[in-house]
Amino acid sequence: MNYQYEVKETILKIENVNLTLGGKLILKDVNGEVKNIRREEVQQGQVIGLLGPSGMGKTQLFRILSGLNMPDTGTVFVTEQMTPVKAGMVGVVAQNYPLFNHRTIISNLIVAGKQAGMDNSIAETRGKELLHRFGLDGHEDQYPVQLSGGQRQRAAIAQQFMCSEHFLLMDEPFSGLDPIALGEMCSFICEMAQTDELKTFVVVTHDIDSAVSVCDSLWLLGRDRDEHGDPIPGAKIQHVIDLAARGLAWRENIREIPSFAVTVNEVRQLFATL
Ligand SMILES: Nc1ncnc2c1ncn2[C@@H]1O[C@H](COP(=O)(O)OP(=O)(O)OP(=O)(O)O)[C@@H](O)[C@H]1O
Ligand SMILES: [Mg+2]
Repeated sequence: MNYQYEVKETILKIENVNLTLGGKLILKDVNGEVKNIRREEVQQGQVIGLLGPSGMGKTQLFRILSGLNMPDTGTVFVTEQMTPVKAGMVGVVAQNYPLFNHRTIISNLIVAGKQAGMDNSIAETRGKELLHRFGLDGHEDQYPVQLSGGQRQRAAIAQQFMCSEHFLLMDEPFSGLDPIALGEMCSFICEMAQTDELKTFVVVTHDIDSAVSVCDSLWLLGRDRDEHGDPIPGAKIQHVIDLAARGLAWRENIREIPSFAVTVNEVRQLFATL
């Protein structure tokens, strides 16, 4: 397959985001940018991995990226028009997989489809298709409490795929999945990213292996250190790893490429410094 690609206009920008919670500086001058990738003969979207140790501020940054929370200062811009993000502009799969508990799984998906402007029957067809893709055949008419944690998570992700939004943020989509479901989730994200050139996924995760295998770029969130090597409060994006430039994107069997293991190791070592 042709690996040539071009990096075009900015479609998501984080500008000087600062956040304090309970008197504690959580995010400090966070800056980041996602550019539209263009490949010949492929509708290629972007998949960004946001990684960092527990408690570093990933979920807080995620909520700011989604427009659900406002930072103290700074702005997140989305689309080529660089519009300041507002809640509802981007699809969100939160860390606790919210579904309406009083509705069946298929009905949860239909509601999401209708919110995105589909009529009932189209929403139902698309919903069933997605549940099939996520290995949830036969669970359509069950309620969220009747599913396992991993199944609920897949249902919540399927629900967000109902909307045709260009941006989809996922907080820990890989946690709680068995190895087979994890592999399927990775393939599904890669496949979905190739349905639209402007489609952008931001995946928040601890799972370095999965992140290196599905993403085309990684952002590592961490703190600066003082002269004694102690962390200074307030995290920012400390490292950007361009996986596409390393040939570690858009390929079959990425895990078998020798530089895959090298990169996973490198990220693991960087983690210790965040
Ligand atoms: N409402 C709050 N008030 C005060 N501090 C908070 C509040 N919510 C979160 N924090 C703090 O903000 C920091 C970042 O939290 P966040 O949930 O973003 O971490 P995270 O990187 O997503 O961690 P994890 O990987 O465990 O999900 C944590 O130190 C947490 O204690
Ligand atoms: Mg979190």
